[in-house]
Amino acid sequence: MIDNIRTIAVVGSGYMGGGIAQSLAIVGFPVVIADVSVQYAEAARARLIDEADRFEASGVFPVGAADAVRKNLTVARDIETAVAHVDFVQEAVSEVVAIKHEVLARISAAASPEAIIGSNTSTIPVSELDVAVVGPERFLNVHWSNPAPFVPGVELIVGRKTDRATLPIVKRMLTRAGRSGAEVADVPGFVLNRLQYVLLKEAASIVEEGVASIQDVDTIVRTTFGFRLAFFGPFAIADMAGLDVYANGFHTFEEGFGPRLAAPQLLLDQVAAGRHGVKNGGGWTGDVDADRLRALEDYRARAYSALVRLRADLGPSPLEADAVAPAATES
Ligand SMILES: NC(=O)c1ccc[n+]([C@@H]2O[C@H](COP(=O)([O-])OP(=O)(O)OC[C@H]3O[C@@H](n4cnc5c(N)ncnc54)[C@H](O)[C@@H]3O)[C@@H](O)[C@H]2O)c1
Repeated sequence: MIDNIRTIAVVGSGYMGGGIAQSLAIVGFPVVIADVSVQYAEAARARLIDEADRFEASGVFPVGAADAVRKNLTVARDIETAVAHVDFVQEAVSEVVAIKHEVLARISAAASPEAIIGSNTSTIPVSELDVAVVGPERFLNVHWSNPAPFVPGVELIVGRKTDRATLPIVKRMLTRAGRSGAEVADVPGFVLNRLQYVLLKEAASIVEEGVASIQDVDTIVRTTFGFRLAFFGPFAIADMAGLDVYANGFHTFEEGFGPRLAAPQLLLDQVAAGRHGVKNGGGWTGDVDADRLRALEDYRARAYSALVRLRADLGPSPLEADAVAPAATES
């Protein structure tokens, strides 16, 4: 297996594959893309260059980004040509097992046996995809998030047959692209989408039950707990709120919605051990003495006030109800 990724092919140049190819080309990797046809891949390249020009002009991409995409991003006539001589292949075709199997079989038959192959699947376990891969020890999931040019986190998932030596090599590539990879276990939906889909499912139930409208659910999420999530994960947030408070809250939820929303054992164990979060010495995220608590409060205040300023600076997103309302009144 290769020990360093110098050259890359991205198979599937749609929304995600295009963004991944663009991100890697910007930091200097030679990237070749392939899709269902050369025309499709050519159109994707043109779109990615166009977008890089626009984002560089608006200051969102660094100076030189568009030229780097022009120089480093090329198109192959088919999958086999794209993958023949590269160190790493990122598969990003449609989320359909049969299509992934067909494409991964072609990639792995044509790529060098030394090359590492990563799938960008959002939900399908490695163990369900690797059956189609020639040399499954060099295959893993490298799951970028949307939109790939901006979101820094990437989930890394190795399967039972994957050689773990692939991990540091892929992580080095991601680091060069300014991304951070976190390893999670090989289960359907991994971590990101399991959490995201459960949130959406509960949000849909809330709307179906008439508790709140779609617009009001979105407003509440982005202005309350979603506001905090840019800085803290759910465990840190619970530690700051108080784990005893959460345990009481779960009691109400269990009464209202049954065992599906009963307190998790992981929480009950902390509370039983007297660990109520940052207010009394710590919780899930470790021990917190007076100095660390003060540093946390200062950081949180800086982070949240900066986010308030950023949101005021940017104005509402075009999808926000209050952004649409004035236009609707005028028309
Ligand atoms: N959309 C998201 O938010 C998101 C986020 C993270 C991961 N993903 C995952 O990324 C992958 C791609 O999703 P997307 O949103 O970019 O979809 P997309 O439809 O925008 O892109 C898929 C691309 O694959 C190409 N393709 C399909 N069959 C092919 C084949 N046989 N040979 C070559 N190319 C083929 C399509 O022409 C298209 O360009 C999926 O596995 C998806 O689950 C999506």
